[in-house]
Amino acid sequence: MTISKEELDLAPAVREFGEDNNLDLSWLDTRGEWGVRAEPSKRGLTLGDIQLGSYGEPGDHSDNMTGRPRGARARNDAYRVGGYKIRSKADIWLSNAHVLYEESLQRQWSSATDVPWNTIKPLPDDIERAQCQLATFLTEVEFVAAEVPGRWLAATTPDYFEPRMFLISQVMDESRHLDVFRKRAFANGGGLMQRPNVTTSGTVGSIDLSNDFTEMSSRLHITGEGSVLTIFRMGELMAYNEAEKTIYRLAAQDEARHVAFGVMHLRYLAETEPERKEEIHCYLDEGEGALVAGNQNPASRDTAQSEALAILLGGGEKNFDEGYRKLMAVRKRQAREYVQRVRSAGFGERFENGRANQELLAYTR
Ligand SMILES: [Fe+2]
Ligand SMILES: [Fe+2]
Repeated sequence: MTISKEELDLAPAVREFGEDNNLDLSWLDTRGEWGVRAEPSKRGLTLGDIQLGSYGEPGDHSDNMTGRPRGARARNDAYRVGGYKIRSKADIWLSNAHVLYEESLQRQWSSATDVPWNTIKPLPDDIERAQCQLATFLTEVEFVAAEVPGRWLAATTPDYFEPRMFLISQVMDESRHLDVFRKRAFANGGGLMQRPNVTTSGTVGSIDLSNDFTEMSSRLHITGEGSVLTIFRMGELMAYNEAEKTIYRLAAQDEARHVAFGVMHLRYLAETEPERKEEIHCYLDEGEGALVAGNQNPASRDTAQSEALAILLGGGEKNFDEGYRKLMAVRKRQAREYVQRVRSAGFGERFENGRANQELLAYTR
């Protein structure tokens, strides 16, 4: 342990003051590693810059049940306030959660002032209704995308605070997405339409049922948000004004971060606990089934949502067939981006060994 010069100068004087005034200054001697000096890097003083010495990477398991900050000295009389279920590093860790968290803080935006709402002008009735149907769907999707990670915050030990704080930033992002699509529904003489049929909207229904963090993350970040990210990236094709383009562009930036979290977490898990890979493949089996549900039989897909997309992509009801063709191109792109993501996460073998959903693979060709 290093004691700084300032501390050497100060401590005797403080101790003397304590003795003279009958103060218990024993806390002066109980501390974590001392003499740490973090230097700002090119993006300022980041969480990565303070991962120093014993404050750096946490251990593979955590027995911290008291809320003690990572690296602080324990206090024997501390209450066990934390019912943390996530105390194994591989359950939630990824190599760059702190980078994604910092990025999130630096790229926050305001749905009130960063979207040029005044560029929205009256639209043909069929387009406005389709836009409002899509906004209704996305309002619900974004609600789920905030609620589900939110449930894991209090379950995670403070020793793994970097991924935990990333999830807090995700909850903020998704709240903003909810509010921006809700605002869009009311911004041009429309309103909300019928809520989506969640039982046929892919994995939305089952995300909430996950009892394991990685199970949840594979459904939410990889399958669910991955699909939404593709739609936002194609937002230019569905936008009728600068306001809508801006909404899709800014929301896509946030979604890319959430998806990256899921990919990097799966990669970490695959590398550190390869014995769990088979289990993860099972979640992916299920997710792929949900991704293609209704492609062969459109009746089993949530038709309101798909038809709204087709109307927006085609430029009105009169061009529905053209719009539907474009929608199928979007679905293809969703499938391709999904395959890339799963490969990058370290589970690409499923595309070589015949395990992947064949209908999904056909979409990538
Ligand atoms: Fe979102
Ligand atoms: Fe998201």
